[in-house]
Amino acid sequence: MSRAIAVIGGTGPAGMGLALRWVRAGETVIIGSRDAPRAEQTAEGIRKRVGANAQVSGMENSAACAASDLLVLTVPFEGQAALLKQLKPAIRPGSVLIDATVPLAASIGGRASRTIGVWQGSAAQQTAEFVPKGVSVAAAFQNVSADVLNGDEDVDCDVVVCSDDPNATQVAMDLAAKIRRVRAIDGGKLENARIVEQITALLIGLNIRHKGHGGIRITGLPDAAYKTAPASR
Ligand SMILES: NC(=O)c1ccc[n+]([C@@H]2O[C@H](COP(=O)([O-])OP(=O)(O)OC[C@H]3O[C@@H](n4cnc5c(N)ncnc54)[C@H](OP(=O)(O)O)[C@@H]3O)[C@@H](O)[C@H]2O)c1
Repeated sequence: MSRAIAVIGGTGPAGMGLALRWVRAGETVIIGSRDAPRAEQTAEGIRKRVGANAQVSGMENSAACAASDLLVLTVPFEGQAALLKQLKPAIRPGSVLIDATVPLAASIGGRASRTIGVWQGSAAQQTAEFVPKGVSVAAAFQNVSADVLNGDEDVDCDVVVCSDDPNATQVAMDLAAKIRRVRAIDGGKLENARIVEQITALLIGLNIRHKGHGGIRITGLPDAAYKTAPASR
């Protein structure tokens, strides 16, 4: 049996949409929340949509971290650092944490179509500073619309994965590829997450301007780019 995926902040649209897609793909998912009943309620909603065989449960965030070594972080940037500090003792050594956080200016009262500067370079690099030693961080899923994820259509989008650890890159690419029509691409080092996070702000602006749910597709690369992670950085 494959390991469970714990989605921290999984009660929001981004985490819930990813969870829905993975449960549909037959994965076991734990919804994490600051409030266990809210997590259970979200899990129940997914179960109703997917059917009786759905492998999904809900837990408070710390319990979700303790229950899995594959974590996906989907919380607003303003809560990211404080939540990670709180969860640090619960995160298992050797875990892979995949961060979808975007440092949108909206988190400090600004426009959703702008990002704010992060001292470390990106939200994902900030996460890497807060996780316990031995935990690998990959950045992914920042450019996938939650509206699309929560719908029933296939997801017409590439997912750029950035990490300093080839194993974490591979794990995140494998998770992305479980979502129908999504192609995962190795985007290089974690520092490149800064660029990927900025693209989300651009997409939000385009969505507002053109009233859509835009995503990205990278063209012109060989098929191999979507299948493998390099052995080393
Ligand atoms: N929405 C999208 O289309 C999309 C797409 C790609 C990436 N993202 C990124 O993914 C992240 C989540 O997006 P979202 O739209 O799902 O956000 P959201 O609804 O604002 O938040 C997601 C969940 O995070 C928890 N949360 C909220 N404030 C928190 C805080 N201060 N501390 C700890 N937990 C908190 C809440 O869960 P509980 O109250 O249950 O704990 C909430 O349901 C963001 O960083 C966003 O930029 C979003």
